[in-house]
Amino acid sequence: MPKPLSRLLRREQFAFLARDHSAWGDHLDRVRTVLGEGLQSADPARPVLILGAGSGLEVPWALAPPDTTGWDGDPWSRLWTAARHHRWPPWVFEDLTGGMSELDATIRRAVMEPWSGRPREREAAKQRLAGLLPFLVPDPGALRAWIGAHRPSTILVANVMGQFGAVAENVVETVFGGPPWDPDPEREEPLAEALAAWTARAIEAFLRVLCESGADLWLVHDRAVVFGGGSLDLGPWEDDWTRQLRAEGPSLEASDALAGVDPSSFLPGNELNSVKRDRWIWPVALGQRHLVEALVVRRTD
Ligand SMILES: C[S@@+](CC[C@H](N)C(=O)[O-])C[C@H]1O[C@@H](n2cnc3c(N)ncnc32)[C@H](O)[C@@H]1O
Repeated sequence: MPKPLSRLLRREQFAFLARDHSAWGDHLDRVRTVLGEGLQSADPARPVLILGAGSGLEVPWALAPPDTTGWDGDPWSRLWTAARHHRWPPWVFEDLTGGMSELDATIRRAVMEPWSGRPREREAAKQRLAGLLPFLVPDPGALRAWIGAHRPSTILVANVMGQFGAVAENVVETVFGGPPWDPDPEREEPLAEALAAWTARAIEAFLRVLCESGADLWLVHDRAVVFGGGSLDLGPWEDDWTRQLRAEGPSLEASDALAGVDPSSFLPGNELNSVKRDRWIWPVALGQRHLVEALVVRRTD
């Protein structure tokens, strides 16, 4: 993980932990229950992998089999976990998308004129970056290699997949020295579209590696982020999350945290079979609620 990115993830972790947790009780109970079931049903003699392990706020490490490895790009995540759970598990600090370094380098290239070394004019830099992004194909090679070497029986994805797009946006904003997006949501924004397409490719490649692992998969992720006040509830399960939301309020706006990728339609197939799925609302902060999704995919053989 290159320095600027690990710094960024460390900063985000601090911000995440510094938030007011008083309304998080229901979310924390639910996410710990799902991940705890995953850990308890894992073969205790085989390796287990926890992706997006973070500080362990959502991960009941006491239930983890002895050969469980944490994976998180935040360089402090293992220390936080040790302080919280009194356990020092093996850890991987790599980028799970495999594409963040190349993304960072491409943004830096786009904001500079290579011939003069001077910053490009903002609109020109945005256009240049929007033109370069479609050529980037994130490949989670480190994850694939780890899985190939260790053959885990169970993989937990602990609320990290919905972060890929948010982190990518953050990288763009950091290099541009502020948000380069047009504040008017009605205006076309080719850069935002190109970045969303990059995020979708990163999520799909990540899901492909998980599918090919042959492991039981326990995934929890942000499915959508809802901004604004007003009432928000969930109806009975609908594959399309937008149809499950019962929202009322003039200023409510929901954005897809997975850039249009539907993991539940992506994952099942071959010897994998989805056995459990659930959604709930997580009141993250005033005016910001997340639709969280849990998917459990277990091998049928
Ligand atoms: C919402 S937090 C998850 C919290 C965690 N499950 C816990 O129990 O504390 C998302 C985590 O994903 C990590 N992360 C985000 N993008 C990543 C990436 N591309 N590679 C590796 N880790 C990443 C962050 O450092 C952060 O710890």
